[in-house]
Amino acid sequence: MGSLFSSGTNSTDQQQPSKFKFKSDLNDQQIKAIRSSWGKVLPNKEEHGKLLFYKVFEMAPHLKDLFPFGSDLTQPQFTEHALRVMNTIDLAVKNLDNPDVLVPALEELGRVHAMFQLTNREFEYVGQALLSVLEEGLGEAFTPALKAAWTDLYAIITDIMVTAITDYNADKKDNKTNKEY
Ligand code: HEM
Repeated sequence: MGSLFSSGTNSTDQQQPSKFKFKSDLNDQQIKAIRSSWGKVLPNKEEHGKLLFYKVFEMAPHLKDLFPFGSDLTQPQFTEHALRVMNTIDLAVKNLDNPDVLVPALEELGRVHAMFQLTNREFEYVGQALLSVLEEGLGEAFTPALKAAWTDLYAIITDIMVTAITDYNADKKDNKTNKEY
């Protein structure tokens, strides 16, 4: 799996805040396979989304502390966030070939998460849980090739969101430092 995105050359251009130029390694066949498999998982969005986060919290219970529902997974906010994540994955699946929509949406979502100091590590828990939900949902249809395609797709989401989080927090720190001097 190669790099999914190349950095823009004009990162100093304030008119173009996006760092990413879309260069997905996914070919048309893989995109088709992702869409078709997602079509089987999406109808049970709530169930699968909750399962995904049960798995995340099993791997990383400390992440519960970042959410308003804490350890009480019966609270509506738990289901709401699980659904939001599923809807974001849906957006990515639908717009894999439409970076003008996907990149700014994920960058904005990254900025919304900036205060939680999330890194690749936290996103990896979600990625692992996603693959596991897909594997359980699709059974043998979740072939190694399909798994590789989904891994690439989730890497796209992670790359864009984590870069936006890092950039946002670095900018905030810079601004604070500037004020101090
Ligand atoms: C990795 C650990 C994550 C943590 C700790 C986290 C935490 C949060 C929190 C605390 C909120 C605000 C309260 C809420 O809506 O429940 C939120 C909102 C949200 N999260 Fe996450 N999140 C994580 C990962 C993700 C991922 C991977 C996605 C999508 C792929 C995602 C999508 C969303 C969306 C769409 C919202 C609503 C944003 C808005 O209000 O505009 N989150 N997240």
